[in-house]
Amino acid sequence: HPLKSYNTFGISAFAKEFVATHTIAALSQVLKESSNKKLFILGGGSNMLLTQDIDALVIHVNLKGKRIVKEDDNHVYVEAMAGENWHEFVLYCIDNNYGGLENLSLIPGNVGTTPIQNIGAYGTEIKDTFVSCQAMNITTQELVTFTKEECEFGYRESIFKNKLKGKYIITSVTFKLTKTNHKINTSYGDITDKLIDKGIIVPTIKDVSNAVIAIRQNKLPDPKELGNSGSFFKNPIVAKEEFEKVYINHPLMPHYILSDTEVKVPAGWLIEQSGFKGKRFGDAGIHAKQALVLVNYGGATGQELLALSKKIQHTVYKNFGINIEAEVNII
Ligand code: EPU
Repeated sequence: HPLKSYNTFGISAFAKEFVATHTIAALSQVLKESSNKKLFILGGGSNMLLTQDIDALVIHVNLKGKRIVKEDDNHVYVEAMAGENWHEFVLYCIDNNYGGLENLSLIPGNVGTTPIQNIGAYGTEIKDTFVSCQAMNITTQELVTFTKEECEFGYRESIFKNKLKGKYIITSVTFKLTKTNHKINTSYGDITDKLIDKGIIVPTIKDVSNAVIAIRQNKLPDPKELGNSGSFFKNPIVAKEEFEKVYINHPLMPHYILSDTEVKVPAGWLIEQSGFKGKRFGDAGIHAKQALVLVNYGGATGQELLALSKKIQHTVYKNFGINIEAEVNII
């Protein structure tokens, strides 16, 4: 079964077997009948690089629907099923004046995969509005609720990428959103600039969403036009002493002090300074407007993109002594 249209990198790869599940009951049934098989769970396919065919039963989680769990005058708890498209869900919230997700507009992928890497952008992370998620145990098919604390969220991290990797399928996520007194977050410089450009002084959640959409459209390639998986690498977090050693020789290096002991450096800058921005090697390349994004010009294989990512990692390490780690899942 071809997987090209199921991964935003647009890599041509095949699954040994493939099934799409549209209901909890169907998902449970498939898992029950496949206990002896190797399984591969596929959501929106927006955060993975396929480097080979998948010798397994690929289960595409396509559960749809959303509902209001409860609400009062100021807040609403909305549950969205895993297969809902993330950006459509964000737009639904904005249309209903539910605040909290506007900074996460236009992120590719589905609702069910957002907690796995605690998606984040423009000063907001999923964990800021996340209440809980429901997940199915792959072995027992039992449905379990995970609270925010239990998810152990970190920067592009959660328990689902670590201890519980491969053990659960997230079936729905519940968010606590504001109905009044929205916490407008324009801390990220680019958003402020965009709003000023438009002469907006008191922005609504819709204004913030529009600003984020404009910024993303300007910097990040649309997977429908140019295959990609968003940021390919994480921004490295380095020990302060390490950072100071590098900074002495590179005083223009942008950085964010995280604590007394840790500093975060934008990988995009390290990659750009290493000369890769906009470069193309066959059909694999580095996006011209954002060096953190690797792109597939059409016919790149996963192996070619993986080789390019390794070359970038080695060069950045050689130039700066800093290790940059892949953010996307390499399959
Ligand atoms: N930079 C460069 N050259 C580049 C790209 C970035 O010098 O080609 C430097 C600039 O100094 C810039 C800084 O890096 O000021 C930050 O760049 P940007 O605002 O584009 O954000 P980022 O750190 O590169 C992160 C997230 C993005 C998210 C943006 C906005 C990660 C791995 N990536 O990128 O998330 O949209 O911030 O909040 O944390 C994703 O995860 O797929 C993703 C796109």
